[in-house]
Amino acid sequence: MCLEHLCSGGFKKYMKIDKYKNFNRILNKLKQLNKTNFVKIERFIKKQKAEYYLTAEQISKNIFYFEKKWKLKKYFSLMSYNELCKETLSEQYYLKKNGTYRAINQKIDNKLLYISSNKMKAYLLGLMLTQILWPSHYKILKFYRSSIKGKRKIKFLEIGSGHGLMTKYLLENSSQNFGLICDISKQSLNLTKNIIYKQVNKNNLKFINKDFFKLDTDLKFDLIIMGEVIEHVTNPQKFLLKAKKLLAKKGKIFLSTCANCAQVDHLYHFKCINEIHRLIKKCKLKIESDLISPSENIPKNKWKKEKIAINYCSILY
Ligand SMILES: C[S@@+](CC[C@H](N)C(=O)[O-])C[C@H]1O[C@@H](n2cnc3c(N)ncnc32)[C@H](O)[C@@H]1O
Repeated sequence: MCLEHLCSGGFKKYMKIDKYKNFNRILNKLKQLNKTNFVKIERFIKKQKAEYYLTAEQISKNIFYFEKKWKLKKYFSLMSYNELCKETLSEQYYLKKNGTYRAINQKIDNKLLYISSNKMKAYLLGLMLTQILWPSHYKILKFYRSSIKGKRKIKFLEIGSGHGLMTKYLLENSSQNFGLICDISKQSLNLTKNIIYKQVNKNNLKFINKDFFKLDTDLKFDLIIMGEVIEHVTNPQKFLLKAKKLLAKKGKIFLSTCANCAQVDHLYHFKCINEIHRLIKKCKLKIESDLISPSENIPKNKWKKEKIAINYCSILY
């Protein structure tokens, strides 16, 4: 299996195998590990353009870099990705049967996950792969990257950086952007620091290992990035309001979250996109642009009833 084979028509010209060798390794291993899942991935990546393959190669390279750096088993990240897919299916099944997320019903606390270095490594590397292997996650990443285009010499805050890709892309615009990066998990911050190691201008970045609710700062930010984090807290309204208070004049928030997306560590259940829109309105924030991306190709009027996962992101002001 190789990318050259995957890509048909005029696009074939981009697909020089040696150019995408890390991504190709990922694809070959994925095919071995989970054939059913691979068919879906193959269908998705066949439709993508050069921009996608460049991103996928860069992320794959990072994946192998971390496996080596942390002396992890070969293909540890792909095993973790596979586990994440299995876990997601089982949590979605739980949601359909019980009406809400397991973590909410069973009052699960994420503290143990956030302090465990091994669990976080597996979780974050798996999650990083979803950015190129789950169509909805890739769409969100694309939306984010197009919305930060041209952002230079700005003051930004990232809350819940996780794998660190969001900050990485922002620093690719300019290493002169000043950033505060706050995450409750030490391991997330470690990954973020490592993923941006080449772009780091130490004087321009500050890392804070804290629950965002406890962050104390007098700074105001031109951009606040909150990717896939508000569903990890029990009170997303309080979380979003606290972020809003830290916005500079004309500042913007990039928010991404999801409705009906059951995961072991999701502590707040948005039942539909309207609920997310209502939350934004309650916080007296306005939507400049947004993107709604269902995980399955079924008519809109069935989304809520079928409880399919829907990804959402927006730029708020
Ligand atoms: C799903 S990851 C999001 C990763 C990335 N931002 C993205 O968009 O894919 C959630 C991250 O939020 C962090 N987090 C969860 N609750 C938090 C809180 N109360 N304060 C700060 N960070 C938090 C977790 O440690 C984790 O790194």
